Amino acid sequence: MQGRLITFEGIDGAGKSVQAEELRRWLEREQQRKVLVLRDPGTSPIAEQIRRILLDPANGAMSPWTELLLYEAARAQLVEELIKPALAQGSVVICDRFYDSTTAYQGYGRQLDLPTVMQANRIGACGVVPDLTILLDLEVEAALQRKGHLALDRLEREERAFHERVRRGYLELAHAEPGRVKVVKGDRPVEAIAKEIRQLVAALLAG
Ligand code: TMP
Repeated sequence: MQGRLITFEGIDGAGKSVQAEELRRWLEREQQRKVLVLRDPGTSPIAEQIRRILLDPANGAMSPWTELLLYEAARAQLVEELIKPALAQGSVVICDRFYDSTTAYQGYGRQLDLPTVMQANRIGACGVVPDLTILLDLEVEAALQRKGHLALDRLEREERAFHERVRRGYLELAHAEPGRVKVVKGDRPVEAIAKEIRQLVAALLAG
């Protein structure tokens, strides 16, 4: 069976992790596929160490360029250690965030030079391109409310305008790559969203 990479994207609080687990269950039970669910940055021990540096609220002095390169470093480790071997074995790899997060957060949110960010993305992804990207789109206000009761990490503490730029960046990405990036409205019951995602993934697996 052919390995596939499916990524989930969206602003913080959009519901990615819940939907990644819903999709895993369906793929394993109904489609009899081997599935690996990962998060970027993180999952592998080295990438989790980098994640800790990135999200630590004590690291407020981090340069946006350091931030960019650390996300890429964590991703390169995840790709080489876990994603490439799983794809080679025919698994469906579900990744909670991938390089579109870097375009949206560091490119649009931090306003780093977009062509440079995309060049860095190519290095960090080590040649891997998602087969399908689910963009869970939600208004910033609604997403922040969902996150409200939890301890916020360094990125989540950014001002509202930052998250608005990130959301707009994602929507521009979806507009630029409509074949790969599918926008799914996140302000609905979990099951309705999961059903729409299953249809998108079924079409991918049938193709
Ligand atoms: P998570 O909590 O959804 O796993 O993501 C961690 C934070 O890192 C989240 O606020 C988004 C941010 N992020 C970036 O800024 N750039 C990136 O490339 C990635 C993958 C995440």
